[in-house]
Amino acid sequence: MKQTEENSSFITLPWKLERAPPPFEGYDIKYPESLVRHFLKRFTESGARVFDPFAGLGTTLFVAEEMGRVPYGVEHDGGRMEWVAGQLEHFTHLKRGDAADMLAMGFPKMDFAMTSPPYMPKNHKWNPLYGGDPKHAGYDVYLDRMGFIFGQMKQLMKRHAVFVLQADNLQGRGFTPLVRDLGLCAERHFRLDEEIIVAWKGGRPDYRHTHCLVFRKA
Ligand SMILES: C[S@@+](CC[C@H](N)C(=O)[O-])C[C@H]1O[C@@H](n2cnc3c(N)ncnc32)[C@H](O)[C@@H]1O
Repeated sequence: MKQTEENSSFITLPWKLERAPPPFEGYDIKYPESLVRHFLKRFTESGARVFDPFAGLGTTLFVAEEMGRVPYGVEHDGGRMEWVAGQLEHFTHLKRGDAADMLAMGFPKMDFAMTSPPYMPKNHKWNPLYGGDPKHAGYDVYLDRMGFIFGQMKQLMKRHAVFVLQADNLQGRGFTPLVRDLGLCAERHFRLDEEIIVAWKGGRPDYRHTHCLVFRKA
């Protein structure tokens, strides 16, 4: 395939967080709107159903709505969920709950999905998918659950639909290869088509780039 700006495996996007966070929250969980815009432009048409199982502060959903796509999502945290739903036209499309239960939430089949899951360092016990419940402690349990959630996503998505997974490796002592590990969990259910490195223009000195894995439902 010819490399173009559109399908290059190395792209540069502005690190600009356009929407202010809620008063009870910092910016640190959000990805920039430019990232969502890039992939929606590349992989979706107007009217497409766009899903984010870890909606967070709603970046995927807000940008989807602004671009004439139809947003759907799940968020476990009640405060975040209410803040996002309160600003969405399609506010009933964001459900509060555990992404693992998405098939029981009455969603229609999706054309596209994009997410950044909650991260976990491999030497920690606190599993963010269960709010730190000690019954579900540990990195292996976290990865197993992520694999299960990606399997549920596969069932929710249309044939040939694209799923973009944004992730970062966690540097430092006890390096965690999260991009590889989450990628392997998703590859149990989807075909991995591309890895795109995104360099941030104007980013923080300690956060210069990220990884986006592009999967397709076969
Ligand atoms: C990295 S953040 C997503 C940020 C989002 N991309 C944005 O730009 O705002 C991950 C989110 O997943 C949520 N979360 C954690 N466990 C969850 C679960 N089991 N089901 C659904 N959401 C969950 C967290 O509350 C957090 O808001």
